[in-house]
Amino acid sequence: MSTAKKEYKRVTVKSLIEMKQNGEKISMLTAYDYSMAKIVDAANVDVILVGDSASNVMAGHETTLPITLDQMIYHATSVIRAVNRALVVVDIPFGSYQSDPKEALRSAIRIMKESGAHAIKIEGGIEIKESAKRILQAGIPVMGHLGLTPQSIYKFGTYTVRAKEETEAEKLKEDAKLLEKLGCFGIVLEKIPAKLAQEVAESVSIPVIGIGAGNGVDGQVLVVHDLLGMTHEFNPRFLRRYMNLYEEMGNAISQYVTDVKTKDFPNEEEQY
Ligand code: KIV
Repeated sequence: MSTAKKEYKRVTVKSLIEMKQNGEKISMLTAYDYSMAKIVDAANVDVILVGDSASNVMAGHETTLPITLDQMIYHATSVIRAVNRALVVVDIPFGSYQSDPKEALRSAIRIMKESGAHAIKIEGGIEIKESAKRILQAGIPVMGHLGLTPQSIYKFGTYTVRAKEETEAEKLKEDAKLLEKLGCFGIVLEKIPAKLAQEVAESVSIPVIGIGAGNGVDGQVLVVHDLLGMTHEFNPRFLRRYMNLYEEMGNAISQYVTDVKTKDFPNEEEQY
């Protein structure tokens, strides 16, 4: 397959659909702050996800449930200031959309208006149909999220692979078709069998981005802190670490401590 690709100065939801049509894989990574988003954007990542995984990665919570809408807007605002090229998608957090579609719309509007984000992501299929519809009617691009949906962790009980059984796999396929029909511009599939993910990707015209969903989908997403090895206790099979920043940063900081203690830092050149 050819690797020549069209240049996108600014990635839009339309560009992503075009990439799928052209067989170009889509790259997506999380970022939650200005400095990281600058690096991720400059590296030509197509989509930056301000994920509610910020709840785990940035705030140290065990789940994604505690993060608030205000906190998501804060993270998204910082990311937006850094980005020139990528499409910025923001997770609509737990508790800000489940009550009713009007609440969902209000939350989505706040994200778009206050942060300047380009799209929102929402977890669920048939359960969020009316909310997704309302948000889409307001002209806000919506990305779906199926499979392992971390906001429902207490319903699932574990973070293991989803949709291995027929009934759940069938529901997932129907949910994907529903999200496409509603007008979503893409779907994230998290931690499901690769064969099922490929089947879903081939059955819809919108891009399907996988995390732990194999290589037969239209793109991949990872949490940037995992990719860089800043987190070291999380070791799922799907994760490829490109660096071991946990160790490298630790070593650098230890060296700094030594240099201060031994009065090596600052030296003659490092002072006024
Ligand atoms: O919040 C997040 O980082 C996500 C990705 C894992 C897809 O939803």
